[in-house]
Amino acid sequence: MGRKVLAETGKNRIHVVFDHPTGRFSPEKKRRGETELFWQESEHGALSDCLEELSQLVGLVNIKEFVKEIYAWLEVGKRRKAAGLAADEQVLHMIFTGNPGTGKTTVARILGRLFKEMGVLSRGHLVEVERADLVGEYIGHTAQKTREHVRKALGGILFIDEAYSLARGGDKDFGKEAIDTLVKAMEDHKNDFILILAGYPEEMEWFLRLNPGLPSRFPVHLKFQDFTLEELLDIADRMVSARQYRLSLAARERLRRHLEEEMRRRDSHSGNARHVRNLVEQAIRQHAMRVIRMKNPDRDELMTLRGEDVMAGLGAGKRGASPWYNGSGVRFATDRRS
Ligand SMILES: Nc1ncnc2c1ncn2[C@@H]1O[C@H](COP(=O)(O)OP(=O)(O)O)[C@@H](O)[C@H]1O
Ligand SMILES: [Mg+2]
Repeated sequence: MGRKVLAETGKNRIHVVFDHPTGRFSPEKKRRGETELFWQESEHGALSDCLEELSQLVGLVNIKEFVKEIYAWLEVGKRRKAAGLAADEQVLHMIFTGNPGTGKTTVARILGRLFKEMGVLSRGHLVEVERADLVGEYIGHTAQKTREHVRKALGGILFIDEAYSLARGGDKDFGKEAIDTLVKAMEDHKNDFILILAGYPEEMEWFLRLNPGLPSRFPVHLKFQDFTLEELLDIADRMVSARQYRLSLAARERLRRHLEEEMRRRDSHSGNARHVRNLVEQAIRQHAMRVIRMKNPDRDELMTLRGEDVMAGLGAGKRGASPWYNGSGVRFATDRRS
């Protein structure tokens, strides 16, 4: 099989294209009338929405490639089943490694919906938890808490962020009980939910080495790379326009310089999209503070984030103000984990 390309040709039509490199396409096959490109078509609106949302994400080339593969595999499996052929059920538990803000939660949420549309999951929702949600205070408490979250996740995805922290306290720690309960749940509810363990690459590697029984239970391992400068700027542009704002040239330049500087300093996890989102949201609040003083701001003014808005936002960050709060102490509704 050659390169796989997914092409969208309209709202309700998805084409999966198997693109065979010409060199490997034998004259023999040509004689038999097979073409170099062939595609399959399906007509699910919701499915096409998921794939569209995925394709709107900046970068993540390997992740998108994986989704195409899994989509093709599931679709062909369905057709094989319809034709009375054996179609094996693959376990789809996954490990996501990557720094914070590299898109792990975002992709997990899209995958949930995709799997629902593909008939793999009945609900496709995402239950995101971390150590504190699973680990209890006395013997038996952890198993109970963990089972509770598994139950909530049935039909969807249980996403454990910073999963390695379950092994933090060693053998005597209740985290171990959470891991054992999860492993049991994976057997008891084999095809009822998908478990995703996520975390920093090094810590996850350590965690998997510590639990040699685990890796084989997670056949899919997706690596989320840090974004490049251009990708981060692209993400900023998309975030801004999704909120019906735009960046002035000066604002974009200011943002670029700031991100560049941070990358040069190798600030911890500066190469991520969440940081960009914080910067954009700060700039939007600074814009509001500036525009509210204007008499009759026109549409353009209401939309345009200027260099000074970005600068002021950066200043606020440097003074140590939390990105989630403005000066008046009003909390902005931003999900801590997404
Ligand atoms: N590839 C991407 N393109 C555009 N925005 C992204 C991308 N990846 C993440 N984001 C945005 O960045 C923020 C953080 O992403 P998230 O999925 O929570 O990261 P993680 O779970 O790895 O910490 C979210 O607002 C998300 O919408
Ligand atoms: Mg996350």
